[in-house]
Amino acid sequence: MDRGNMNTVDVITRKRDGFKLEADEIRYMVEGYTQGDIPDYQMAAFLMAVYFREMDREETVALTEAMKSSGDTADLTAIKGIKVDKHSTGGVGDKTTLIAGPLAAACGVPVAKMSGRGLGFTGGTVDKLESIPGFSTAVEEKEFIRLVNENGIAVIGQTGQIAPADKKIYALRDVTATVENLSLITSSIMSKKLASGSDAILLDVKCGSGAFMKTIGEAEKLASLMVDIGTAGGKRTAALITDMSQPLGMGVGNAIEVREAIEVLKGKGPEDITELSVRLAAMMVYLGEKAEDEEKAVEMVRKALEDGRGLEKFRELVKGQGGNPRITEDYSLLPEGKICLPLRAWEDGYIEEIDAMRTGLASQHSGAGREKKEDAIDLSAGILFNHKVGVFVKKGETICEVYGNDVKKAEKALEEMSNAVRISKDEPGVPALIKKTIGR
Ligand code: URA
Repeated sequence: MDRGNMNTVDVITRKRDGFKLEADEIRYMVEGYTQGDIPDYQMAAFLMAVYFREMDREETVALTEAMKSSGDTADLTAIKGIKVDKHSTGGVGDKTTLIAGPLAAACGVPVAKMSGRGLGFTGGTVDKLESIPGFSTAVEEKEFIRLVNENGIAVIGQTGQIAPADKKIYALRDVTATVENLSLITSSIMSKKLASGSDAILLDVKCGSGAFMKTIGEAEKLASLMVDIGTAGGKRTAALITDMSQPLGMGVGNAIEVREAIEVLKGKGPEDITELSVRLAAMMVYLGEKAEDEEKAVEMVRKALEDGRGLEKFRELVKGQGGNPRITEDYSLLPEGKICLPLRAWEDGYIEEIDAMRTGLASQHSGAGREKKEDAIDLSAGILFNHKVGVFVKKGETICEVYGNDVKKAEKALEEMSNAVRISKDEPGVPALIKKTIGR
């Protein structure tokens, strides 16, 4: 691309002042940053300008295309069957990939999944999987294909070849408070999904205090735009809009969530995360054309959960990528925090609210997430609930526990959790878990 007459400061200025950018200008920023010609500080300023001034549909399509074209497109044609990818827009306690992936694979859908790390206050599947001793998410394309053909499932981190622009921009957004923007989220997710080589895409668009989209209106806008872009890119694409007003399940953190995912696959998990995982897996089965309608797909998935085939697939996934499958019987093989601080109810009453974003931040601050790009994370850290919204607790009863290895961090997280939970005398309503389906 001829960059001769383009200037980084001019492009930043034009976006800062609210102008619509040309596709060429957007490509210039993405290519320049990916190749190292544009430094972090200029890209950070550009992202902040996009955050405040926003991009329209055309700019978002151009940004997605530029990010997708920054790398290769995976060729997964050597994998037999309709490959279905699933992606969440990011939530708190969202370990559905670890459950829905194996369940869909157990129903015959090849699951070739590329996942991300934690972003802001939300967790990431790659970090969660890395809490399994020996598990590797850095897998080359050839090996990835072999694993999916052999086991029906593989979950890897974003390789350097797929949308490298997103890999760099994602890490920068994480530490510059520029995550919560419709165009940046859309382009980040869809550039990867369009380059990932799958045939169909299922999007789990989170909505509520623990999601980047706080209202149903924003979530619908995001879901529709992503479904449009996926469909225009030749992939069958559907989105579920799902609740994220309180954390999903009981656990938030990395090893904590892996443990909970295993419990769900054993049929002993919390109801919300079990139900959502079943519905996501069923949609994957339907998009993968293994069931003629969604109802049949739900039946198939429930059966795979009940007869243990989902758990068996999870074990194959772990073993295939070098992890120790014995973690499913012996949780002590997973990282465990030395510190455990309880949050006790300060009065009798119903749990009226567990603010998901505050919980996500508390988990991040306990050590489970990064504050700087280069930060190491504590895979054992996080929050484990005893109770969820709607439950009556007695004064002194433990509502949740903060885990970790650093007393200062755990104490800070505990204080944050005391502000995340509200107790009331009135019994609260619990919001619907699945709010809407778009596309399919
Ligand atoms: N997941 C992504 O991959 N990117 C985002 O921007 C948000 C969630």
